Amino acid sequence: MAKPYDVLIVGGGVIGCSILYQLSKRGKKGLLIEKNQLASRASKAAAGMLGVHTELDGGSPFYRLAKNSRNMYPVLAQELKELTGTDIEYEENGMVKLARTEKEAKNLISAASTMDQDEGVEWLSSLKLSTFEPYLSKQATGGLFIPGDGNVSAPKLTEALGLASVRLGAEVMEYTDVYDFIVEGSRVSGVNTSLGPYYASEIVVAGGAWSQSLLERIGVTLHSFPVKGECFSVKCSRKLVERTIFTEGCYIVPKVGGRYLIGATEHAHTFDETISVSGMMSLMKKATDVLPDLIHAEWEKAWSGIRPQTQGGLPIIGRSERWEGLSISTGHYRNGILLAPITGVMMADLLEGKENRVLHSHVGSFSKWN
Ligand code: FAD
Ligand code: GLY
Repeated sequence: MAKPYDVLIVGGGVIGCSILYQLSKRGKKGLLIEKNQLASRASKAAAGMLGVHTELDGGSPFYRLAKNSRNMYPVLAQELKELTGTDIEYEENGMVKLARTEKEAKNLISAASTMDQDEGVEWLSSLKLSTFEPYLSKQATGGLFIPGDGNVSAPKLTEALGLASVRLGAEVMEYTDVYDFIVEGSRVSGVNTSLGPYYASEIVVAGGAWSQSLLERIGVTLHSFPVKGECFSVKCSRKLVERTIFTEGCYIVPKVGGRYLIGATEHAHTFDETISVSGMMSLMKKATDVLPDLIHAEWEKAWSGIRPQTQGGLPIIGRSERWEGLSISTGHYRNGILLAPITGVMMADLLEGKENRVLHSHVGSFSKWN
């Protein structure tokens, strides 16, 4: 059977689109198949924080990977703008990780010592914090200011990666369900979809939290699970905070156009995307404790998404040891937007047979799967 595509990617979230983009830049003929629309699941729900230092500590196995990935954003934003005209709203506006007790302050100061010196991370006393972000509650004991961490619009990024790939020669099929694999001996050579079979030299599963159920068709177990997150957004004509404010169980992300995005809850082992009153109430309480003036903001909307998590806590980016022609990229949990650029590069390298050992050594060993 002729293989019209070099690579076929299942899943049009940020991970699938980033892989497609990197492959397209290298002249590979890619086809991406998405059940709904591009950026319709976790990658639509994400707050878009590039939180190398808020979500991970300096000793985390993939801190260096995350930092590499975040540092790709200025160039990526420019490339996507040139190829598609889309502004992905990349902003390097920094983050403040708040301490509300002396113990939290001590932990944050200690965590800062594990972060790279060149990041310019600075401890802000409560007095300095109140000049930095004057509308924050005076209850805060202080905060860690991380100037280099920024944010993007996650849905715009995902859509722009898809569109840029198409401009470079890739094909994207939306509203098409991949429901099984086509197997020839020990090789996966294609997929069966709601629109018929499609074949490629390499198949990449980037189906987010839904990767596991598809891979079960050929006996692959990922040891992954879904983690639902709920968020809401408000609008305010007055600037309430300049930087992302991150604290235990809650973050407030200033977006363009006077929007503030507040997240996020965590509910493991569910694919139920309904939004609960208890989830909203708990987020509102935490957010207004930190930023009391939020209460005067105008309500915009609420939503939820399903994060893909692995039991080992690390993303899976690799080739199947059991099936030739099959690779997997999922399990990015809370940091898929942050890690998308480097994931695209790592997967493209793997498929070109030039695994980037330096990058892989930064993350230690990825979760084992069969
Ligand atoms: P998804 O975006 O879920 O995409 C997978 C796609 O595959 C879906 O579109 C699905 O329809 C498709 N698919 C699955 N199975 C099939 C099939 N059989 N056939 C065809 N298509 C299929 N990360 C950050 O870095 N920063 C943040 O600030 C951040 N905030 C978040 C806030 C919330 C509330 C949530 C839920 C997540 C957040 N994340 C954040 C995490 C981030 O959203 C995820 O890690 C990332 O979006 C995962 O991308 P993905 O492409 O793997 O999955
Ligand atoms: N990274 C933020 C979240 O997953 O909620």
